[in-house]
Amino acid sequence: MRIDRFVTNLPGFTRQQARLALALGEVLVDGQAVQDPCLDIRPFNSVTVRGEHVQLGYPARYLMLHKPAGCVSATSDPEHRTVLDLLPDDERADLHLAGRLDYNTTGLMLLTNDGQWSRRLTQPDSKLPKLYYVETEQPIEAHYSQVFAAGLYFAYENLTTRPAQLTVLGPRQAHLTLVEGRYHQVKRMFGHFQNKVTRLHRLAVGPLTLDPALEPGESRPLTPAELQSLSASPA
Ligand code: URA
Repeated sequence: MRIDRFVTNLPGFTRQQARLALALGEVLVDGQAVQDPCLDIRPFNSVTVRGEHVQLGYPARYLMLHKPAGCVSATSDPEHRTVLDLLPDDERADLHLAGRLDYNTTGLMLLTNDGQWSRRLTQPDSKLPKLYYVETEQPIEAHYSQVFAAGLYFAYENLTTRPAQLTVLGPRQAHLTLVEGRYHQVKRMFGHFQNKVTRLHRLAVGPLTLDPALEPGESRPLTPAELQSLSASPA
């Protein structure tokens, strides 16, 4: 919500009084006087008006997790272990997933309580590159690279995938970088060649790479530098 509306909604403030309080530097957001009436206020911000704390702000949380195989990317599931079940009870309360990986896909997952942050990351046409390590049943042939770079038509969504970059590492191993996140995208892309993906592991999302110190199932908070690098990336 805009700060001018936020202040107007406080008891005893009209729109004009809110604007005046802003102009006089009587409104502090996270300890700083703000004058821009359009500033967006979020639940994570503390707000003080004329010396009175009107919103304390609660801590935003951002985690990276090494997803193991055999768990679902969901906050609850009647049958299977979920990614959130990997966290201690007292840590999972308000978290949700910023993006999904399939049941047997492993690697980097991001969790947060900041809906605006996760929406930016998970829009299907987000331009943030996602790097996958892929193993396949059949040999990966040289011409796959051109086909992936040109884009593949997905009839269900009636779209052509954005250029993807394939780096062949071995007869059945490759790195694939996608700049979008369509449903089962990697498997469908290799499926175009009737080549089944037998192992899929996400190594990076934009500038964030999976911390090699994290064992499958482990997580840690993102560092300020990691958060900063992500907000500086195009999405
Ligand atoms: N593409 C897939 O097919 N599966 C995943 O888990 C992620 C990307």
